[in-house]
Amino acid sequence: MDKIKVGVIGLGYWGPNLVRNFYQHSETEVIGICDLSPDNIAKIKSKYKDINFATTDYKELIKQDLDLIAIATPPETHYEIAKDCLEAGKHILVEKPFTKTTKEAEELIELSEKKNLKIFVDHTFIFHPVVRKIKEIISNGELGEIYYFDSERVNLGLLQTGVNVIWDLAVHDISILLYLFPDIEFINIHAFGSKHIHPYYEDIAHIVLGGDNGFIAHIHVSWLSPVKIRKVIIGGSQRMLWWDDVHPFEKLKIYDSRIEVDLRKQDPFFPSYIKGDVKILAVENYEALQKEVDSIVSSIRKYKKPEAGGIDGLKVVRILEGCERSLKSGAVFKL
Ligand SMILES: NC(=O)c1ccc[n+]([C@@H]2O[C@H](COP(=O)([O-])OP(=O)(O)OC[C@H]3O[C@@H](n4cnc5c(N)ncnc54)[C@H](O)[C@@H]3O)[C@@H](O)[C@H]2O)c1
Repeated sequence: MDKIKVGVIGLGYWGPNLVRNFYQHSETEVIGICDLSPDNIAKIKSKYKDINFATTDYKELIKQDLDLIAIATPPETHYEIAKDCLEAGKHILVEKPFTKTTKEAEELIELSEKKNLKIFVDHTFIFHPVVRKIKEIISNGELGEIYYFDSERVNLGLLQTGVNVIWDLAVHDISILLYLFPDIEFINIHAFGSKHIHPYYEDIAHIVLGGDNGFIAHIHVSWLSPVKIRKVIIGGSQRMLWWDDVHPFEKLKIYDSRIEVDLRKQDPFFPSYIKGDVKILAVENYEALQKEVDSIVSSIRKYKKPEAGGIDGLKVVRILEGCERSLKSGAVFKL
């Protein structure tokens, strides 16, 4: 069977990871690359000598015989490049965040349906081995009724030039949240943020998403932390889970911790604090992007629905837009 022919636009920080994963996969081949910077092109060409086609003009790349184009340019350029690729009859993989507005996302989805093409959105974390394991744990009911999702994603930089820290970092947590809890309906969004370095874009932000049944998601993102923290706590009525993505081996723990109350004895009110065992889970070790490329290949070959497609991208952008409105008005935004 012929390999899926791939082109990659954008060879800055993230694009080279896409090139490497498509290059190494047995069912895809990288036919062409593109970046505005000849230096970035030269770096990739020196590593992958058999990639023959390279250009600084993406419109030249999309004229090539390609099945799929991966777009790893800054977010404000995604819509225009994605639209041109779809119009040229190519499937697309668009970096997160899919677009800057829901209107743009809806237009691209409509165009892809008209052209019978697939949109993949690079929500890399939904392919992460720990996220897959957490999904399994939640589906098994091990945590009981889920009360909250609390995540922190902070580091010193990397400052972006066209989006704030929410569109750059919280987009990961929102995509994880929607993947883990597809049935929770988020009703309101409250986002706070401040600009210390950037004149236009927030570099620190806290987001609270309120779901039905009292579910609360809190996301803290920052480009101004002296240490790198990547942690998620998910609290349930039976057990609680801790994911520390920077820990070298104890990444995922389940705490047999909960609070029980006997509602018949409200006066006096005696809660019992249960603190049982802590289990460290063994989790598979693979690169999320590798799994993502497998999934893209199987979606294109077997006409399967993408695991992270245009609709998933749109849902995340809708929440990001809600955050933006809440940030500007200072009020809670109702979804
Ligand atoms: N999935 C992830 O985990 C992940 C991680 C980091 C970044 N990203 C996403 O990847 C995208 C790129 O981010 P980055 O950090 O690599 O940015 P970057 O600035 O390092 O790289 C962007 C590259 O795109 C090129 N470019 C810009 N406009 C272009 C155009 N019209 N034609 C061709 N090339 C063009 C630039 O020259 C630059 O080399 C963003 O959407 C970002 O959110 C995703």
